[in-house]
Amino acid sequence: MKTQYYTATSIDGYLADEDNSLDWLFQFGEIEEIDGVDEDYTQFIDQVGALAMGSTTYEWIIEHENVLENPEKWPYEIPAWVFSSRELPKIDGANVHFVQGDVAPVHADMVEAADGKNVWLVGGGDLVGQFHDNDLLDEIILSVAPVTLGSGAPLLPRRITTPPLKLASVQKYDDVFAVLTYEVQ
Ligand SMILES: NC(=O)c1ccc[n+]([C@@H]2O[C@H](COP(=O)([O-])OP(=O)(O)OC[C@H]3O[C@@H](n4cnc5c(N)ncnc54)[C@H](OP(=O)(O)O)[C@@H]3O)[C@@H](O)[C@H]2O)c1
Repeated sequence: MKTQYYTATSIDGYLADEDNSLDWLFQFGEIEEIDGVDEDYTQFIDQVGALAMGSTTYEWIIEHENVLENPEKWPYEIPAWVFSSRELPKIDGANVHFVQGDVAPVHADMVEAADGKNVWLVGGGDLVGQFHDNDLLDEIILSVAPVTLGSGAPLLPRRITTPPLKLASVQKYDDVFAVLTYEVQ
């Protein structure tokens, strides 16, 4: 069982631009149409038993997919943990736990719920950093899109130098994505 940060990023390390927009990512059309990307995601998500995200990411999904009015558009069947200090809107029928504060006890609950499968940290970067601060991050899988943003939501605002991450694999999808997998040592 691993705790994985699996995300798309710009070359210069941003998850979203300053307006929390992902238009730069969606310009590649249906990402699933790029050869191999759909299989990559399917293989990944099949092994995931629980996921976590911060409130900005949750609110982005709700807004982007109009999920409150169309709850069936919540994209995950596996249980999700959403971190926020605020009371956020709930989605009818979605398996979402709202939590705040220390990530360690939440991680323990996620591992239990995942029942031997992996834990996915969806983002954002500081939330993933909090898991890393607690030695709870095992792997980082980045789909690097061929764009730079200059500013925005940072990929992982931490200093991880010694020991460095270990580059475990490199894959190329069309002339768009480089998928880099790193192990946290
Ligand atoms: N490129 C991709 O594939 C990808 C992946 C993931 C996300 N994104 C996008 O990237 C952006 C990420 O935004 P973001 O960096 O602001 O991150 P975020 O992690 O989604 O949201 C940050 C918020 O989460 C809450 N939070 C974090 N840790 C907490 C804790 N321990 N306890 C309580 N609340 C906590 C706080 O919100 P409160 O103010 O509610 O307390 C904080 O302001 C979003 O636009 C998202 O849609 C893109």
